[in-house]
Amino acid sequence: MTTPVFCGIDFGTSNSSLAVANQDDVFLIPVEEHQTTIPSAMFFARKDNEAFFGREAMERFLSRQPGRLMRSLKRVLGTTAMRQGTMVNGELMKFDQIIAAFLDQMKRKAEADCQTELRHVVMGRPVHFTDNDPAADQRAENELKAVAMSMGFEHVGFQFEPIAAAFAHEARVTGEKLAIVVDLGGGTSDFTIIRLSKENARKHDRSGDILANTGVRLGGNDFDKDLSLAEMMPELGFRSKYGAKNLEVPSYHYFDLSEWSKVNFLYTNRILFQARQLLRETHDPVKYGRLINVLEQETGHAVLAETEKIKIGLTKSDVHVAALDFIDQDLRLDVARENFNAAISPKSERIVNAAKECLQNAGIAPEAIGLVIMTGGSTEIPLIQEQFRQLFPQAEWSEENKLSSVGLGLAYDARNRFS
Ligand SMILES: Nc1ncnc2c1ncn2[C@@H]1O[C@H](COP(=O)(O)OP(=O)(O)OP(=O)(O)O)[C@@H](O)[C@H]1O
Ligand SMILES: [Mg+2]
Repeated sequence: MTTPVFCGIDFGTSNSSLAVANQDDVFLIPVEEHQTTIPSAMFFARKDNEAFFGREAMERFLSRQPGRLMRSLKRVLGTTAMRQGTMVNGELMKFDQIIAAFLDQMKRKAEADCQTELRHVVMGRPVHFTDNDPAADQRAENELKAVAMSMGFEHVGFQFEPIAAAFAHEARVTGEKLAIVVDLGGGTSDFTIIRLSKENARKHDRSGDILANTGVRLGGNDFDKDLSLAEMMPELGFRSKYGAKNLEVPSYHYFDLSEWSKVNFLYTNRILFQARQLLRETHDPVKYGRLINVLEQETGHAVLAETEKIKIGLTKSDVHVAALDFIDQDLRLDVARENFNAAISPKSERIVNAAKECLQNAGIAPEAIGLVIMTGGSTEIPLIQEQFRQLFPQAEWSEENKLSSVGLGLAYDARNRFS
C-alpha cells in the first residue's frame, strides 16, 4: 500500500474530521482517541493558557475548570472579529492562530498515523460563509487558506461541503443517479444537485455533473438560539420588566447568551455592574437573579450546552426535561417538541426554500431527484425530516456517515485533483 499523501479537512462549525487518501484507499483518521470526528471546541486553561481540544475541551469547561471555552470558531471567518482577535485569560489572541492550533493538532495526528508529512489538502467550505456578501465570503476562504498554509500545507484547494458529501456517497451508488445533498450542519445549510455514478467518480472535471449549489447561513446553532430565546431565557428574566415605567429589561444579554460565538463577550465587569444595578429595580428578582448568577459564575456556555441537549433530546422524545440546578436550586425546564418546532419553524422554512431554490437553479422539478443524501447533524430533527420527505416523497433516501461524509469526500477530491 502506498503512503497516504492527500488530505481532506472538514472544519465544521460544531464538529471536524480529517481523511487521507492514497491511490488505493481513502480513510478517516481517529482525531480524538478512537473517534473520527472531534467537536470544534477549544479550552484554554486560565493558569497557563494551555490549549485542550474537542471532547476534552468540553469536559474541562463543563466540569468548571477555570479557563475559557471557544466554540463555533468557523463563524468568525470573514467577519471583523477575525482581524481584532479576542482576549483569552488576559492575553490577546488572534483567531487565525486559534483556528490553526485547532486544525494543526488534527494534522499532526494524521501525520503520526500515516508516518508522512501532509502537503496537499482540500478544505471544505460552505456554499456561502455569509449570506449576500461575496466580499466577506472570499475573505473567509482566503483566511482559511492562509491558516492552512501556516500549518505547512503547500497545495490548498477548496470544495463546497455538500459536493464533498456527494463524492463520499458516490462509491456506493448503483447506475446513474440524480442526487440532492442536504447538508444541515451547526452553522450553515448547504445543497448540491449532482449526477452521481461510479464512472463519473473517476473524472477529473466534475463541473458538467454539478447542476446547482445553494446555501444559507443557518444551522443547528441558530436552532439552539431560537430554543434558548423561546424557552430558556424567559427563565432568566428575558422580557421581564423593571422600574416605575415598567420597561423591558435589556435584551442583548439574552441574545448573546443564546449564541455560541458570542457568549464570551458577556463576561465583562461593565455588563455585570449594569445587571446588578438593574436587579434593584426588577419586577422579577428571582428570574433576573438567575441571569446575574450566570454572569457571575460565567456559566453561559453551560446554559447553551443544556439548550442543545434539550434540542437533541427532542429528536427522540416528545418532551424533554432539563435539570438546571447549576442556575438555580431545583430549577427544571420541561420543553415539548411542538414548542421547539414552533420556535425553529421560520428558519426551517428558509432552509427548505434554499433547497427549492437549488432545484430552480438546476432547472428541475423535485420529482426528477432520484436520491436524497441527508448529511450533517441537523438533518436528525424530526420537523426537518418531515419537511424534506414532503418535498421528495418518491426518492431513495440515504443517511449514512452523517458526521464524517464531508471529510471523507474531501480526501477523494484531494486525490482526484493532486495526483
Ligand atoms: N440528534 C440530533 N438532533 C438534532 N440536532 C442534532 C442532533 N445531533 C446533532 N445535532 C446538531 O447538529 C449540529 C452539528 O452538525 P454537524 O456536525 O454536521 O455540523 P458542522 O459540520 O460542524 O457544521 P457546518 O457544516 O455548518 O460548519 C449541531 O448544531 C448539533 O446540535
Ligand atoms: Mg458540516
